[in-house]
Amino acid sequence: MPAKILSAREISHLKEAAVILKNGGLVAFPTETVYGLGADAFNAKAVARIFEVKKRPTFDPLITHISKKEDTNRLWKKIPPLAERLMACFWPGPLTIVCEKNEALPDIVTAGLSTAAVRMPDHAAALQLIEFAGTPVAAPSANLFGYTSPTTAKAVMDDLGESIEAVLDGGSPRIGVESTVVKIEEGELVLLRPGGVTLEALSKIARVRKRVVKAGQGMESPGQTESHYAPWTPFVLLSKSYKDSSRVLKKLKIRPRIGLLAFGPVKDCPFCEKIEILSEKKDLVEAAANLFLAMRKLDKMHLDLILAEPVPAKGLGLAIMDRLTKAAAGKVGLENYLNKL
Ligand code: TXA
Ligand code: MG
Repeated sequence: MPAKILSAREISHLKEAAVILKNGGLVAFPTETVYGLGADAFNAKAVARIFEVKKRPTFDPLITHISKKEDTNRLWKKIPPLAERLMACFWPGPLTIVCEKNEALPDIVTAGLSTAAVRMPDHAAALQLIEFAGTPVAAPSANLFGYTSPTTAKAVMDDLGESIEAVLDGGSPRIGVESTVVKIEEGELVLLRPGGVTLEALSKIARVRKRVVKAGQGMESPGQTESHYAPWTPFVLLSKSYKDSSRVLKKLKIRPRIGLLAFGPVKDCPFCEKIEILSEKKDLVEAAANLFLAMRKLDKMHLDLILAEPVPAKGLGLAIMDRLTKAAAGKVGLENYLNKL
């Protein structure tokens, strides 16, 4: 049976979704970043189903979502002073904090790690849902593992509609890329994934160390896998603006059907069959909000190739570039890519 579509704006629907969660079911819900696929974090069987329906490897830990700060006591062993400061500055909001785990939280949520990732979303319906369910809610993004994250209820239905109980439709998220993930390690702040809270904003609170993952090294935050967020269509991250690609494509004997994921306005693109513009004003906030839907739209066209323009790696641009780089999974620079074929 397909998932029931509920409205995130109706209190009765939020209550109905909360009952599903309480009974061990799975509910996709909107947040300010992307849609999450929720289960009662203290119901190990329900959480196991998240991994099953997403086809997510069980070594990839989940974020637990809460509606009030006190719930961190049930999820973390102790609360470091730095976590207190971060919570005061950025919660509710797109910051996920990783600290030592409380033993009561089922191991499946944290993939057996000794730490737990927690965030309080800045979204009224998400907060109400968690409140009505009366339990913290474990939720990854509500997409098939490795695919582009969902920013509409329709995108959730496309990926998971046949395998979950309900989707709360709350329209498009305000931010559009996932939360920033930070870990507190011996009192220091380590950035594990760039996201909705910018590095610039975090750096005002504490010195931030960036964790560099070397190939072959065990990963600490599996969102750090090289390929992620990837469309099915071959996806190449350009090193420069799309204009430079004409020269490279002219050398080809064939004319591939190309989709362009452009950062800003496109005047003339003779080789493009379809163009998605992230922001006419080249505004990084707007670009982040449009990113995943634009990727999904291009992917649905069954093109031969998607070319993505780079964006400045500052502010939300850092998170956008992280997602584009992972979607490209090493396919960076058009000339480079074509030479390897
Ligand atoms: O904005 C978001 O964060 C969305 C919404 C739904 O809240 N959720 C989300 O979840 O993006 P997911 O599962 O797609 O990404 C969670 C990231 C992964 O990179 C995971 O490896 C990391 O958080 N993570 C979770 N627990 C961790 C832990 N204990 N230590 C390190 N990284 C962890
Ligand atoms: Mg995800």
